[in-house]
Amino acid sequence: MVSPRNTRSNTRRSPRRTYRAAPAVLAVAAAVTAIATTLSAPALAQGSTAEELAKYRQMLAEGNPAELWEAAGEELWKKPAGPKNVSLEQCDLGKGPGVTKGAYAELPRYFKDTNKVMDLEQRLAYCRVTLQGLTQEEATKNPFSSQGKPSDIERLAAYLTGESRGVKMNVQLTHPEEKRVYALGEKMFFYRGGAYDFACATCHAVDGQRIRLQDLPNLLTSKGAEAAYTTWPAYRVSQGEVRTMQHRLYDCLRQQRFPEPAYGSDVITALTMFLAKNANGGTYDGPNMKR
Ligand code: HEC
Repeated sequence: MVSPRNTRSNTRRSPRRTYRAAPAVLAVAAAVTAIATTLSAPALAQGSTAEELAKYRQMLAEGNPAELWEAAGEELWKKPAGPKNVSLEQCDLGKGPGVTKGAYAELPRYFKDTNKVMDLEQRLAYCRVTLQGLTQEEATKNPFSSQGKPSDIERLAAYLTGESRGVKMNVQLTHPEEKRVYALGEKMFFYRGGAYDFACATCHAVDGQRIRLQDLPNLLTSKGAEAAYTTWPAYRVSQGEVRTMQHRLYDCLRQQRFPEPAYGSDVITALTMFLAKNANGGTYDGPNMKR
């Protein structure tokens, strides 16, 4: 299971980094800390942090469990299923029917057949509906796994993103719809609201800001956007699951105290477009592993 790329990619998030004393942070970060503490999942409670870091270090040595998700996703991709009993192999992720290699590094993108910009997971649902004959509801059911309830979507996403590993991010803003969606994502990034009047930018537009042990990447710098975007989906050691970009954004909107976004909604695609485009030039390195 251990492959050189795991060793390489994971040293970037060496657990040692998290032991550094917190640097001076903005006043807002202090407020955020209090909120984050109350919102944290029990597994992330202060008391279990050391235990969790130990588990994380052990995982690093053993290899990335996300490989199991990738393998299961590939099987799902190739297996005939749904009312039409066909596989997803002819799905067009933007580079032509059946092309999975490098497709994720160019998403989100405009699709002529739907006349809209779609991210990976919207497109996947579209293929499950059109090729396999599922309803939209069936195709988007159970997007985030929970204990004892694995998610096909997370597995498929792990496989498809893995097909872009080592590929340079190359998201285009050529079609007017792509420009519009990017601008919408940018607007959303700075849009303040909710009980605490937070925007994404409150937590993610400053260098060196952190909540407790977690570094908050500055997503407005290419360095920050690349490091963050190219490493999702990720196996979360604290959750024992592979989580997708949809889930990451869902979780941040929850921390922001915004209304829960519908899975696969256009707002998430717009935010994803903004982040993905800002990560252009970075080498895709997911599914990765995170605490
Ligand atoms: C209240 C603070 C807060 C707000 C507001 C917030 N986030 Fe986050 N975000 C976090 C935390 C905490 C993490 C986890 C950092 C870690 O584990 O390294 C995170 C992680 C991320 C990551 C992954 C970074 C990485 O390197 O893995 C992305 C991408 C992200 N947020 C995007 C967003 C977007 C887009 C928004 C607005 C919709 C947003 N966040 C709003 C706190 C916030």
